[in-house]
Amino acid sequence: MSVYHSIIEPLPFWEIPDPTKKAVLEDTKTTLLAPWERLVTAFENSNMEERQKVFYEFLANPQEFTELVENGSSSRSYLKGFSFFECSCTSYGRHVNKCRQNAEALIVEDIEKRFVNKNEVLSLVSYGAGGLLQDLIIVGKLIQNGFRNIYIEFIDLNFDSLNGRKFAEMLNKLPEIFVQTVTRPMMSSKKQFDVIYSVDLDEIYKGDGKSLINLLKARKMLKDNGKIYFFGNRLQIVLDKDGSFTDIMEDSDVLTKTISHHPQFGRLSNVEKISLLITKEYKLNFDIPAIAKVLQFLSRTFDKMIIVNIYGNESYHSDLSLNEWGNQFVLQNLSGVSISRLVFRYHKESFSEEQQRLASTTQHIFIREFLNRKSIVDFGQF
Ligand SMILES: C[S@@+](CC[C@H](N)C(=O)[O-])C[C@H]1O[C@@H](n2cnc3c(N)ncnc32)[C@H](O)[C@@H]1O
Repeated sequence: MSVYHSIIEPLPFWEIPDPTKKAVLEDTKTTLLAPWERLVTAFENSNMEERQKVFYEFLANPQEFTELVENGSSSRSYLKGFSFFECSCTSYGRHVNKCRQNAEALIVEDIEKRFVNKNEVLSLVSYGAGGLLQDLIIVGKLIQNGFRNIYIEFIDLNFDSLNGRKFAEMLNKLPEIFVQTVTRPMMSSKKQFDVIYSVDLDEIYKGDGKSLINLLKARKMLKDNGKIYFFGNRLQIVLDKDGSFTDIMEDSDVLTKTISHHPQFGRLSNVEKISLLITKEYKLNFDIPAIAKVLQFLSRTFDKMIIVNIYGNESYHSDLSLNEWGNQFVLQNLSGVSISRLVFRYHKESFSEEQQRLASTTQHIFIREFLNRKSIVDFGQF
């Protein structure tokens, strides 16, 4: 059979190539690949639709695409075939508990509710971004929910900026998506953001609370309806620009309710200044959100000075607690009570029995904190 002949003569039906057969063959080839290999292949070779499909499969079940790698005392979970990773510890280990999934869901759902125009640029900061896998999942889910235009700054003291560029490169391969990334060692106050989030920041009270304090200061970098989502290992809060905050871990209003329902509460309206005494009997820091809520409530209910005596019990001092300045800064900023209404007296020592005896005559409210954020509230004899 000559070549010429074969061109003019139609091929017998059994020799005509069937295009659907080829597709089936290729499909079988890709389904034989491991999930991470399909993701790599999709981003290297496939068309945009295929890429999007596999990327959404990854978002639905990241564990299937990652592997745990021991790194000294800690471990990391790597997205196989890519340079992105996230920390895997007892507090935030995707393979250990649901803390990361819960943080993602809360951040993504809340952003979706608050930002209706999904074509506008959404500007984000990830504070303590690390290996960007957690960010890939959060930003990926925002894209899946319809956001097209995302500007994100990655802040980390130790950072590989190439990873930031790869992050943008990868997401910009999705259909009609524009992602811009910037990496910095610390936050720059020049821009205003819709959202600042931090997932699994190192021990928040380390270095006298430097990273927590940075986040509290970042409130002024929020746009008017902006929010900060903070998921630390001892503190999970959402901060609003206007000074209010929500404690995600626990109902930190319980302490305020105990105080406001106390039979002697009404007597506070007769005193010139309200004096509080707070002691603790464990190594961790005070139950900061609960105390901040009490200060917020007292300052809104009474137009008076509030004197806060704190016994830091520094014989227990460790990386898990703040000192004088740290406690004062965090409490004042979290409660939002004006510095002109708050007098802060910090005592390094523990609270002696003698002082305890005197407390009932010198203090209006006496809060004793025990382990696991349990506290006992007494009112003084005034
Ligand atoms: C436990 S890792 C978590 C990283 C990432 N967010 C994750 O979920 O996998 C904490 C990261 O926060 C960074 N970090 C700690 N303190 C910081 C600070 N004050 N400013 C910026 N980054 C900080 C560390 O370098 C580290 O990469």
